[in-house]
Amino acid sequence: MKVLGIETSCDETAAAVFDGQLGRLLAHRVYSQVDMHAAFGGVVPELASRDHVRKLLPLIQETLAAAAIEAHQVEGVAYTAGPGLVGALLVGAAVGRSLALGWGCPALGVHHLEGHLLAPMLESPAPQFPFLALLVSGGHTLLAEVRGLGQYHILGASLDDAAGEAFDKTAKLLGLPYPGGPALARLAGKGQPGRFKFPRPMLDRPGLDFSFSGLKTAVVVAIRGLTLDEATRADVAAEFQQAVVDTLIAKCRRALAQTGLPTLVVAGGVGANLHLRQELQRLATQCRVAVFYPRPEFCTDNAAMIAYAGCQRLMAGEHEDLRVRAQARWPLDTLRAAG
Ligand code: KG4
Ligand code: ZN
Repeated sequence: MKVLGIETSCDETAAAVFDGQLGRLLAHRVYSQVDMHAAFGGVVPELASRDHVRKLLPLIQETLAAAAIEAHQVEGVAYTAGPGLVGALLVGAAVGRSLALGWGCPALGVHHLEGHLLAPMLESPAPQFPFLALLVSGGHTLLAEVRGLGQYHILGASLDDAAGEAFDKTAKLLGLPYPGGPALARLAGKGQPGRFKFPRPMLDRPGLDFSFSGLKTAVVVAIRGLTLDEATRADVAAEFQQAVVDTLIAKCRRALAQTGLPTLVVAGGVGANLHLRQELQRLATQCRVAVFYPRPEFCTDNAAMIAYAGCQRLMAGEHEDLRVRAQARWPLDTLRAAG
């Protein structure tokens, strides 16, 4: 089954084709709106929706051409139905649902976070179920026990800011351009952790929840009254990144011990962070577990993960009526096992 995937939940317009029989991705394309939103220091939802309208259909055409297939060969359409910006979601949902109707094939609304969780499946070798997943994106931070497709047991989550959000807000404090996460990571590479001392939130308490808003406050307090020259900014960035990574690693270690799961999977935009990847590798060696992560372009928002997740569910016989689905909020643990 060849499935067209569509992703428009935030500020990336993306399309991809996954072939379920071959078990591989035929093509994928991402158009990022970051340059447009950068002038405003963050995503402007209305502008995001309008730009998806402009870009989505040409991007789908380009993706089908790259996959070397004609529209009539598409056997299913998977679109991100939530969670996300509702206007942005509606663009992908309306286009996806309509194309499927016109092409006479089934359509399915996919959960954005299920896409992220399954993104490592696009790599070779792919992880086997069950695994522990650390999902660290701009909107969510959670640890989940993944027993199978749609079988997600949430072990812990952020009580306030997501890890990516903390990166973005701290980057803004340091005067870095939007999107802050990658820029802050680059700056951190030029500095030394330790000159500033930031907390490792929630490590003194049992459990697997996270909290990152206090870390941002610690940065505000630390830089108050300081001249923010390049070296100082780099040292703040390095200590901030170290504090986030230490916290994520400690919680992963605790979750691995608690569940006894043999495999750790990392997904979501912050999963592209090289320092985090290095430390996770070290943790995996110490704990004797295997660690898997998607290539960096499949950590951040993309349609390959949506095409993959949708393809698995469509191949299991799932289908939907003609309703166009877009849900700003959609708890991950309300999903059902595939089939
Ligand atoms: O998964 P994603 O593309 O979008 C959401 O679904 O939220 O994640 C985007 C988040 C942003 O907060 C961005 O700053 C962060 O991931 N991010 C990074 C890096 N690359 C992206 N954070 C730290 N280091 C990176 N290299
Ligand atoms: Zn995402």
